[in-house]
Amino acid sequence: MVDRLSVEVAGLKLRNPTILAAGILGVSGDLLVKVWKSGAGAVTTKSLGLEPRVGYPNPTVIQLDYGLLNAVGLANPGIHEFAQEMEKVKSSNATLVVSVYGFSPREYREVAGAAEDYGADAVELNVSCPHVERLGSEVGQNPKLLREVVAEVKSTLKIPVFVKLTPNVSDIVEVARAAVDAGADALTAINTVKAMAIDIETMYPILGNRFGGLSGPAIKPIAVRCVYELFEEFSIPLIGCGGILDWRDAVEFMLAGASAVQVGSGIMVKDLGIFSSIVEGINLYLESKGFSRVDEIVGLSHRR
Ligand SMILES: Cc1cc2nc3c(=O)[nH]c(=O)nc-3n(C[C@H](O)[C@H](O)[C@H](O)COP(=O)(O)O)c2cc1C
Repeated sequence: MVDRLSVEVAGLKLRNPTILAAGILGVSGDLLVKVWKSGAGAVTTKSLGLEPRVGYPNPTVIQLDYGLLNAVGLANPGIHEFAQEMEKVKSSNATLVVSVYGFSPREYREVAGAAEDYGADAVELNVSCPHVERLGSEVGQNPKLLREVVAEVKSTLKIPVFVKLTPNVSDIVEVARAAVDAGADALTAINTVKAMAIDIETMYPILGNRFGGLSGPAIKPIAVRCVYELFEEFSIPLIGCGGILDWRDAVEFMLAGASAVQVGSGIMVKDLGIFSSIVEGINLYLESKGFSRVDEIVGLSHRR
């Protein structure tokens, strides 16, 4: 079963195609190890910056009927403080992706470089992050900025660089092209969808930050569409993310073109058994359809 399900994403070998998504349980080494032991093919940290950050005021995460709404505001201890947590993950032999952000291309490079030095197997650039010189603009919404950030990180890193795209753009292919042209090794799609909720009793927005990001089942069709569009245009590996709750969702993303999938909110809807049950389900699906390896189904929905 192990061999049938192992995949390679931009040179990074995964024992199976499931990855813990950034920001969910990735706040400590112990939790990352717990997720790895529960069967994930790799684990991703919470997004880390150069300096510690407190994040937005409460409430930061609320449960809606159809998903989660969050505005955590990149709360994190900073990459250097997190090094000891990474050490714990590395000593458990887990495959570790470190999610990084910065407020300038140079800062992205510094954080990604530190992550590599501390033992990351790959970095994922969280580009849903405001740019310090262009307030209001997220790096991932601006192809020119995105190109600068990816090129800067790629100029020194040896480990694979994944770029995690935001769906909050009118044309995801256009921004993805900037990342691909600048040397991205893989694309992760998608981050959360900009959203909000208002309390009808208090008559105020519920989240401390008013606006937040929607995740979970509500965004799955958006994410599948993004992966499908990206697969049509680019030949680098894609990692699907958004609303995956079970093996059927994972298979759908792979048929759209994802070589691997990330699971975030699904852990909160279900529990940590979600990784092994997805892997088991994919395995039975491959067997029933007569495939010998999981990568054989990647992008199959595109055949004409
Ligand atoms: C509480 C919470 C915190 C998150 N924090 C991060 C983060 O630090 N960095 C990041 O790139 N994405 C972050 N995300 C986005 C997830 O990694 C993922 O892209 C998104 O939730 C869609 O996947 P899902 O529907 O499986 O949760 C966060 C999501 C949630 C719900």
